[in-house]
Amino acid sequence: MDRRKALQRMVTGSATLFMVPTALAACGNTKKKSADNSQLTVNLADAANAPLKQQGGFVVTDNTIIINTAADGIIALSSICTHKGCTVEYDKTNKDILCPCHQSEFAFDGSVLQGPAVKPLPKYKVTRNGDTLTIDRS
Ligand code: FES
Repeated sequence: MDRRKALQRMVTGSATLFMVPTALAACGNTKKKSADNSQLTVNLADAANAPLKQQGGFVVTDNTIIINTAADGIIALSSICTHKGCTVEYDKTNKDILCPCHQSEFAFDGSVLQGPAVKPLPKYKVTRNGDTLTIDRS
């Protein structure tokens, strides 16, 4: 390898070393923006959300469980069990939120009714405008 080629390789290698962290930082920023998508909009007119029109109906979408309760109207909480991350469901019989993996139960305010989970489910603010629910997960 002559001196000129060796110098070119060094310059190219250096440029690559400087570009990699920049590219990684850019990826990190993109990920952060998508992870920061704290608002969820649910259209009640959509057939997939039809269960929410009846008391006792529920939908799980985008890591969120949305339940039409008799007492509290439509509520929304994280659907990720705080024990080991399974997806929770609404238990119509006991009128609470049940994790099918290890039977943790949560109240509508997210508090733990029965373990093994010890941390509550985060509860989200729900606002309704006609057929549109806006869930604030911030
Ligand atoms: S993952 Fe929910 S109780 Fe274990």
